[in-house]
Amino acid sequence: MTQPIDFLLSRSSMKLVTAPAPSDEDLAKILQSAMAAPDHGGLQPWRFKIIRGQAIQKFADFSIALRQGSDTPFTPQKEAATRAWLSEVPMIIAVACHIDYGNTAISETERMLATGAAVTNILNAAHMLGYGAFWSTGIATYIDEFQCGLGFDALDYRFLGFIAIGTPKMPIPPKKRPDYTQFTEEWSEPLDV
Ligand SMILES: Cc1cc2nc3c(=O)[nH]c(=O)nc-3n(C[C@H](O)[C@H](O)[C@H](O)COP(=O)(O)O)c2cc1C
Repeated sequence: MTQPIDFLLSRSSMKLVTAPAPSDEDLAKILQSAMAAPDHGGLQPWRFKIIRGQAIQKFADFSIALRQGSDTPFTPQKEAATRAWLSEVPMIIAVACHIDYGNTAISETERMLATGAAVTNILNAAHMLGYGAFWSTGIATYIDEFQCGLGFDALDYRFLGFIAIGTPKMPIPPKKRPDYTQFTEEWSEPLDV
């Protein structure tokens, strides 16, 4: 029997997803998992927009048009590949972090970390429910008009990209992960510096 820890150990991003999108019931669980993210000060800085159905085509047209008008336009091949990818994606969750200028006790960095943790919960919950998901900061993520067009005013929100989520187009192959010991050391007392 798969143990809960096995889901965490086997999570892998899957960019190539297709319909069906998560059911409303599963989407509710996925988004509710984000509410369990660690959150200093209880600021709940995470914000999400659900984009699905015909809105996906509008998302594609809007984001690609902005990118093509930018200093770093896509090549025709990259534009075609991006359009082909999004034409199959059945659901997008756009993510932003709310900047509450009235609260100076908790830094912007910490709010961003809490929002990133919320996204991690979303990716893990999607995986546990059998969906594929992929976090992207591509296309027009760093163009202010894009986040404004999604309803995240650039003065009040840091836009953190979008999650494509749906049914994996193919079995997700197990990924070789690094051994944690490469990144971990025991510490027992201050170093001489
Ligand atoms: C904040 C963030 C933004 C990302 N943006 C992109 C992106 O725009 N394009 C991309 O190919 N991968 C992007 N990635 C990486 C993928 O989402 C994914 O993590 C990566 O392909 C490794 O797969 P894994 O999650 O299975 O380890 C991003 C990851 C993070 C954390």
